[in-house]
Amino acid sequence: MSTMTAQRYAWLKEQISLHDRNYYLLDQPIISDAQYDDLYRELISIEKEYPLWITKDSPSQKVGGYANQVFSAVEHGSPMLSLNNALSEEELISFDRRCREGLGIDVIEYACELKFDGLAVSLLYEQGILVRGATRGDGTVGENVTDNIKTIRQIPKKLLGENIPERIEVRGEVFMSHDDFQLLNEQQRILGAKEFANPRNAAAGSLRQLDPQISAQRALSFFTYGIGELAPASWLPRSHADLLERYAKMGLPVCEDRSVAQGLQDLQAFFQSIKERRDELPFDIDGVVYKVNAYDLQNQLGYVSRAPRFAIAHKFPPQEAMTKVLAIEVQVGRTGAITPVARLEPVFVGGVTLTNATLHNEDEVLRKDVRVGDTVIVRRAGDVIPEIVRVLADRRIGQAAVFHMPKHCPICHSQIERVFGESIARCTGGLFCPAQKMQAITHFAHRRAMNIDGLGDRLVEQLIQSNLINHPADLYRLGLNALVTLERMDSKDKKLASNLLQAIENSKQTTLARLIFALGIRHVGETTAKDLAKYFGSITAFMMASEEALLRVNDVGPVVASSILYFLAQAHNREVIEQLITCGINPKEEASSDQVVAELMGKTFVLTGTLPSLTRDQAKALLETAGAKVVGSVSKKTDYLLAGSDAGSKLEKAQELGVTVMSEQELIGILQQSSVSKGLD
Ligand code: IVH
Repeated sequence: MSTMTAQRYAWLKEQISLHDRNYYLLDQPIISDAQYDDLYRELISIEKEYPLWITKDSPSQKVGGYANQVFSAVEHGSPMLSLNNALSEEELISFDRRCREGLGIDVIEYACELKFDGLAVSLLYEQGILVRGATRGDGTVGENVTDNIKTIRQIPKKLLGENIPERIEVRGEVFMSHDDFQLLNEQQRILGAKEFANPRNAAAGSLRQLDPQISAQRALSFFTYGIGELAPASWLPRSHADLLERYAKMGLPVCEDRSVAQGLQDLQAFFQSIKERRDELPFDIDGVVYKVNAYDLQNQLGYVSRAPRFAIAHKFPPQEAMTKVLAIEVQVGRTGAITPVARLEPVFVGGVTLTNATLHNEDEVLRKDVRVGDTVIVRRAGDVIPEIVRVLADRRIGQAAVFHMPKHCPICHSQIERVFGESIARCTGGLFCPAQKMQAITHFAHRRAMNIDGLGDRLVEQLIQSNLINHPADLYRLGLNALVTLERMDSKDKKLASNLLQAIENSKQTTLARLIFALGIRHVGETTAKDLAKYFGSITAFMMASEEALLRVNDVGPVVASSILYFLAQAHNREVIEQLITCGINPKEEASSDQVVAELMGKTFVLTGTLPSLTRDQAKALLETAGAKVVGSVSKKTDYLLAGSDAGSKLEKAQELGVTVMSEQELIGILQQSSVSKGLD
């Protein structure tokens, strides 16, 4: 007997028990399923070699699972068992061989179904009425969760039809669909509560809520796959597949993805077809299950310790794995969203090698406390981008630095901004950032923006790839010769190219509202663009907008105002607008009657000196919007002199001529007074 093996065996027992506790009781596993399976297999292989070591407390002798003391206990009439796993083709082949040899049959009929990734429950119906719902617990004793079970809409409280047994215990899986999981986590985020790592944990956590009202708010789903107690026993049909048919007729949810297989080849085909469709399913599965179909054959095969011999779970390759974080970098999306991404030590997960995992946003990195050098569990779920499930904090060596969002965009070096109250940080590069230009230009050309007919996203992509355009103003410099070099723009028939040039030319005759909308400023939709156009009247006035002025515009609050100011503060965005003006786009909008201020309407102003907060240009734009006229020199016709500090000769002249001198404060007072009376604030 090897002491090393004995020590290892003791360690394995301890570890598996610990992980069972984390998984079943706390709904908070700290290792991946694949790692758990590895530990478990090692334990079994030692037990095979040293059967005398096996004691009652070995995890192999228990079903796994824990009953929470808070719920009342339910003793299961027959134990709720678990399934042995086949993790490879060879293991499946030996399962079929064992069944064939055990029964002396050449080709076995199997019932095939999905292996739902949730938690097993037992539903007891008496005279067709749901009287008790319980979790599996440790397999012998579970938790009474009747009130919570009753909140699951798919579970009938009364069975349908005539052929209902006196007492039947329906077994199946409670789980959460992907959509409901996303929704729940969104809610948790809003409430500032802990998010769930995966739908399984969310389902388990929700079903075991002490308050059924909370359980009721969390949409859970259910599929049935088995039977426990039954009276009279004669009610039992011939086979498992027949049982599921009966269940469906009784109103119990049975998954449509099931079939009856004849022999090994059919099993392999079922596995393959489900594996291909796995990503399309609206819920998580971790494999498929095969059960010898006929109940008399199931009974002949019987059970071995905690699992039946007649059934097996054929698992998909693990979707989770452990690896190391080599670096945390940020990526810029098409909308300028900055996403932290973990660069990983390559790891093979579910058939592909992962080298990156998304960390979603800064808060997520801090919440999971992911740091460079950390050992982490990564998960690949269907088509979605791989993500880090959690950090194995006890494996952290040394003091890695906490992640902080960089200040500048890695692509265009513009400032990164995170608006208060939002989780996403964004590059402020806007029109200038190469990562965003494709989307920016497509938006610019959109029918409701500059309306450049024929310029869709594919053409924009081609133009960018051929280096013909970099930002929207480049469109107005395109020539026929350059365009016809593009694929799709047939050089013989120049019609497409010249139509496009015509559409670009036509777009110059536009409205200010369309132009402002076309700039693609965050939070500035069509309606806001119209309001801004009405208020500012010209693109130059808009470019000089101050926060106070913006806040005076209909429906513009601090978030929209700061987004506009950010956009306009970027030199490259201003550069693009100026180039657009140079190219001949300079629409004017009539100042709206809403913005006209009666006291200032038609009045002539002269500006002098340094105003405390407004620049001269801003003051001019404000006055013009309000309906006033701004001229250069003081005369008898001048109504007001808007004077700041260090006012010189103009002030003297105004005083001489008796022209009213107004301060910036007085002007703002009038403007504010007017917007209050119009209900604009
Ligand atoms: S049959 C005697 N069928 O997998 C066999 N189980 O590892 C009892 N599961 O505890 C289970 N889908 O929570 C069966 N189609 C399916 C299943 C399924 C998921 C779960 C169930 C069970 C565990 C066994």
